[in-house]
Amino acid sequence: MKRIIVLGSTGSIGRQTLDVIRKSSDKFQIIGLSANSNRELLAAQAREFHVAHMALGESEARALASQKCDLVVNAITGLAGLSPAIAAIKSGNDLAIANKESIVAAGARIMSLARKHKVRIIPIDSEHSAIFQCLEGRNRKSVKKIILTCSGGPFFGRTRVELKGVTVAQALAHPTWKMGKKISIDSATLMNKGFEIIEAHHLFNTPYKKIEVLIHPQSMVHGMVEFEDGSTETRAYKPDMRVPIEYALNYPDGAQVNESVKTPKYYPVDHKTFEGIKIALKYSSRGEELVRANDTAVEKFLAGEIKFLEIYDLIKKELKK
Ligand SMILES: NC(=O)c1ccc[n+]([C@@H]2O[C@H](COP(=O)([O-])OP(=O)(O)OC[C@H]3O[C@@H](n4cnc5c(N)ncnc54)[C@H](OP(=O)(O)O)[C@@H]3O)[C@@H](O)[C@H]2O)c1
Repeated sequence: MKRIIVLGSTGSIGRQTLDVIRKSSDKFQIIGLSANSNRELLAAQAREFHVAHMALGESEARALASQKCDLVVNAITGLAGLSPAIAAIKSGNDLAIANKESIVAAGARIMSLARKHKVRIIPIDSEHSAIFQCLEGRNRKSVKKIILTCSGGPFFGRTRVELKGVTVAQALAHPTWKMGKKISIDSATLMNKGFEIIEAHHLFNTPYKKIEVLIHPQSMVHGMVEFEDGSTETRAYKPDMRVPIEYALNYPDGAQVNESVKTPKYYPVDHKTFEGIKIALKYSSRGEELVRANDTAVEKFLAGEIKFLEIYDLIKKELKK
């Protein structure tokens, strides 16, 4: 039995993690669960999975992540996931990480601590899981290019003028993924893809110039790696986070999923309309400030205080300070 702690178990990724565990209760035992404020769901999950240890908020999550186990799943949203991630690593616990904000903010520190404490960092983000799988058994020095795919979000193909009046509901209506609100807006602005480039840079120790993004609205191919010998590895599966979650929970024993895709379509990114990637790369060395500036702008957009395109303006204004 693999002993697992699930941080952020009441969220979108957390609940899908429990779905996977529910199906394989002979393989996994949950020893700790955490949430921020959703006590009712947390208590119900604890009853269902017979879990004694529960945590509310960041500091309790940090204490929970320090308990010895086989794997900590970090599905907390935002920078609140950073200190629990570090606590898990320092306690020698392997870490399956969905919380990309902590890698954007402190990727170099996380990866160096992981090396020091000899723990595995297994990505849950679908693109990074795909790249992680493409790199299995391959010489990382022979990587020529990492390609992250991007659905394009709900506004793919629109011009700046067409984006002026878009509503919160339209921005939340992602065409292929069902996700939490914050990451849905980040997907619409492509800030999410900018964060994912920074995440890939740290997770796979790859220079930015070797990481590219292709728009792939079908969301079936999640990542590709081109190698110096001319070969290319690709991973494709349906857009369902339970696929990369299951892979991370079972790693290194689980099977990889790689479905065939009929006529996959790819398009270049329209950086003029969607500034997310440009902004993220410009401020990649100030990851924590970047995440905070984006958080503030997204909150304001969700609250109806600013328009969609003003998300970019606000982030740039904050970071120029
Ligand atoms: N959703 C996806 O499909 C997806 C895909 C790839 C990557 N990710 C990444 O996965 C992470 C989680 O995303 P999500 O969509 O699952 O988010 P979500 O649905 O908003 O869930 C967030 C979880 O974190 C907990 N939480 C929030 N603030 C906290 C705090 N201050 N201290 C401790 N716990 C806190 C929440 O507890 P309460 O329920 O009590 O508020 C909830 O359990 C994010 O970093 C996101 O970028 C998500």
